[in-house]
Amino acid sequence: MAGEAEQQLRAYVEYFRDMGVYDLYRRGEPVFDAIAVAETETVVEAEAPAPVVAAPVVPEIAQVAAEIVAPIRQAVAPTSPTPVPPPAFPPSRDFAEPPIPKLVSFDNLAPLPEVRVAPAEKYTALEVIREEIGDCTRCPLAYAGRHKIVFADGDPNARLMFVGEGPGADEDMQGLPFVGKAGQLLNNMIGAMGLKREQVYIANIVKCRPPGNRVPEPVEANTCTQFLLRQIDIVQPEVIVALGSTAATYLMGVKRSLSGLRGSWHTCRGSKLLVTYHPAFLLRDPRQKGEAWKDLQMAMKELGLKMPSKG
Ligand code: URA
Repeated sequence: MAGEAEQQLRAYVEYFRDMGVYDLYRRGEPVFDAIAVAETETVVEAEAPAPVVAAPVVPEIAQVAAEIVAPIRQAVAPTSPTPVPPPAFPPSRDFAEPPIPKLVSFDNLAPLPEVRVAPAEKYTALEVIREEIGDCTRCPLAYAGRHKIVFADGDPNARLMFVGEGPGADEDMQGLPFVGKAGQLLNNMIGAMGLKREQVYIANIVKCRPPGNRVPEPVEANTCTQFLLRQIDIVQPEVIVALGSTAATYLMGVKRSLSGLRGSWHTCRGSKLLVTYHPAFLLRDPRQKGEAWKDLQMAMKELGLKMPSKG
């Protein structure tokens, strides 16, 4: 009976994993504790020492061993010879496909805060979020070769914020967003707007590097965006520029082509939101730089920024 219950619990644990639920172990809640126990047992089994190569059988020792083992076997033998029925849990092939997580815009994820953080307190408020993130293991990216969590960079009182997709190799090593090749181009774009990098705020949809720079999985993005949302609510920029379709998709809660989203204003957490090409895309297709520049000029107009003088 205990074995059956344990098997069911294990199956639930695996089911939740397939569903993308990784943060089950909230202590003090009986269900979660029971699952944690089942998990611990799995780990113990998995870590059992490899079978020892059989030693040559010495008949006398084998005889004594058999005499010791026989009564133990008898004591632990099931009272009924009836074989234990297979667990009621259906085999994995009968599972429905796990549901695709729903896309929810940042505006619909949480109400806007009633009280805004005062400018002088924004730095500390952001630090509090960083501390809360800690050495995060909330999503699979924590186990995918991450070196550093990339929180953000820039001015907590920035009027302009850029949101990218997720750290690449350079960002992962340095713990700062947009410091690689795409970052150099972003710095140039910021400079063309007459600003310095230190004057804007830069963050990403996910704070850990997806392996091989792949697009973050929905479970990874949905786990991480709670922090970006709070960062936006603290910084409260006038304008947010979404760099590429992943940023646009999660900020706006819609999956649309970039061409359909560019060129008009959207809103996000009380800020005006603009969508443009990701700098990494512009590196691959520099012909689109002119289009990106049009987007940035829209942002400049909104912020009342003058074209910087040449030279
Ligand atoms: N690409 C991103 O989307 N973000 C970074 O921080 C770096 C590259």
